[in-house]
Amino acid sequence: MKGIILAGGKGTRLYPMTKSVSKQLLPLYDKPMIYYPLSVLLLAEIKEILIISTPNDINDYKKLLGDGSNIGVKFTYAIQEKPKGLADAFIIGEKFIGKDDVCLILGDNIFYGSNLSEILANAKKNKGATIFACTVKDPKSFGVIELDKDRNIVSIEEKPQNPKSNLAIPGLYFYDNTVIEKAKHVKPSPRGEIEITAINEAYLKENNLNVSMMGRGIAWLDTGTPQNLLKAAEFVEAIQSRQGYYISCIEEIAWRKKFITNEKLKEIGEQLKMTDYGKYLLSLLEEE
Ligand code: DAU
Repeated sequence: MKGIILAGGKGTRLYPMTKSVSKQLLPLYDKPMIYYPLSVLLLAEIKEILIISTPNDINDYKKLLGDGSNIGVKFTYAIQEKPKGLADAFIIGEKFIGKDDVCLILGDNIFYGSNLSEILANAKKNKGATIFACTVKDPKSFGVIELDKDRNIVSIEEKPQNPKSNLAIPGLYFYDNTVIEKAKHVKPSPRGEIEITAINEAYLKENNLNVSMMGRGIAWLDTGTPQNLLKAAEFVEAIQSRQGYYISCIEEIAWRKKFITNEKLKEIGEQLKMTDYGKYLLSLLEEE
């Protein structure tokens, strides 16, 4: 399975913070925001990853992440000229995806929780498409999914005025290879975007859409406003300083998944040892 991180867009809701910096590069406490969605792909053991961003920003991602060999994975980069919509990721990524299945994660979506690896492993095994459902207080600004009492999908709607449930669809999607053709057939919505919701509806029509609940054990955090950004950073800080474990430390995940050796982790840790981050990486080796 291939992975795509969509990290473009204009980030206008966070101006002036994002006037000259791509939103998904903003710090979320002690790491760039994109580390968080990237860590989800690593947890899902997806090692071939396409990073899509704007013509202006793509080089900053290359500078940050390189070719991926440092963490035992392979990054490819592509440009999205205009923010045409999330479904555009599969058109831009057509060659990269090839004949494989693909997982898309939005560069501003943050997930954290105890059984995340298991949830991802199960989604990977499913046929067709798998999306997720998270309970939120106010779902109006998300894709919203309605389920019947047997958890069958009744409807999915993008940003409904009157949501039919409190279940938001987070920005993490697993699709089979037919997603490419489906994306090509999506017509722009009233807001002018080719919506991911239209793709999910196409799978639903074929009876090929699975939904996996992310219950109370999983935190799905929003970074859409300055206040949410601060709250998400405070969440990360609180967990890390209490438990001593880092959230979304990509080198740690790569090491635990055996994508890199002890020696490689040591080398990266040594380079960063003037920081708590580097000290943390070195401390993992002592755990052995
Ligand atoms: O966060 C989950 C939500 O993401 C879902 O519940 C919605 O169904 C889905 O449509 C999407 O809604 P948003 O309105 O929050 O998407 P937004 O336009 O803010 O874009 C999400 C991220 O993707 C953001 O980091 C910018 C990036 N992006 C967006 C578009 C439309 C791109 O890189 N290219 C694009 O063309």
